[in-house]
Amino acid sequence: MEEVIAKKRILSAIQPTNTPTLGNYLGALLNWIKLQDEYDCAYSIADLHSITVRQDPQKLRKQITESYALLLAMGVDPKKSIAFVQGHNPAHAELSWVLSCYTQFGELSRMTQFKDKSEKHPENINAGLFTYPVLMSADILLYQADLVPVGVDQKQHIELARNIAQRFNSVYGDTFTMPEPYITKTTAKIMSLQDPTKKMSKSDENPNACISILDDRDTIVRKFKRAVTDSEAEVCYREGKDGINNLMSIYSAVTDKSFEEIEKEFSGKGYGDFKLAVGEATADMLAPMQAEFQKIINDKKYIGDCMREGAEKAYKASRKTLQKVYKKVGFVELPR
Ligand code: TRP
Repeated sequence: MEEVIAKKRILSAIQPTNTPTLGNYLGALLNWIKLQDEYDCAYSIADLHSITVRQDPQKLRKQITESYALLLAMGVDPKKSIAFVQGHNPAHAELSWVLSCYTQFGELSRMTQFKDKSEKHPENINAGLFTYPVLMSADILLYQADLVPVGVDQKQHIELARNIAQRFNSVYGDTFTMPEPYITKTTAKIMSLQDPTKKMSKSDENPNACISILDDRDTIVRKFKRAVTDSEAEVCYREGKDGINNLMSIYSAVTDKSFEEIEKEFSGKGYGDFKLAVGEATADMLAPMQAEFQKIINDKKYIGDCMREGAEKAYKASRKTLQKVYKKVGFVELPR
């Protein structure tokens, strides 16, 4: 008999608010694409998560559709993987409620992201902001995910998902797979172009600090031209040269050239030449994905079809988990 070895399940999600940055793309999203060959992947647009901060409904609708189209444009294959919008599968909200009854107030109070966000938005410290990590745990545990590719900023949330899973399993017997964070080490962290000691962030006030992956060529080249460097004139990777180091990391990630090769290429040349090269190489790398995005975003029928298929697949992949949980906690099944 042929033995079928099930592939491990990967689950990850991004919020639809704000277009991903070059840092998100090189650090995480490109990796999502590669993982599709080896794993059973489920990738989601976390619309439910995004309303912990007040959103404009019309804008949010547009952002969800665009983020979803972007997922496809980047190379998430809706046939091979599950590409879905979180809110299209009701099981996320349902499991989240149950899990919230197995999560302690104290645990949630210790979440650094909650502390940060509630300081930033003191006018809207809502319960959703507080229980957000429970919803994220539900996202993960619903699909029995083995691995969760995330940035380091999300590691504490994965820890919580593990704690909840373990607690539930120890009370009711094996129910949830223990998820592991999958943190990519290969790509260096991409820093702000205006303050290279800070991470490149989409919420930066200075628009020149951050490259959005939908920025057009001229904008990309211009932002790199304005990147903060140092007062020397040598393109080399060295402690203290944060700006140049960051540009070298980007150029290396985008072109696959080693630091040595880059140093050679620009020896005797000025920062101006180097910045222009980084800008052009980045624009070149993003161009095919951007063209694909334009094609998809104009094809509302295709987007709708993929969303529907993704929602169905997501529902099917998660239904058993939710049924099992309802049964274990003692809810009564409707007779058929
Ligand atoms: N909280 C994540 C973020 O803000 C997005 C997210 C939601 C997520 N659900 C998830 C990531 C499940 C991994 C797994 O980036």
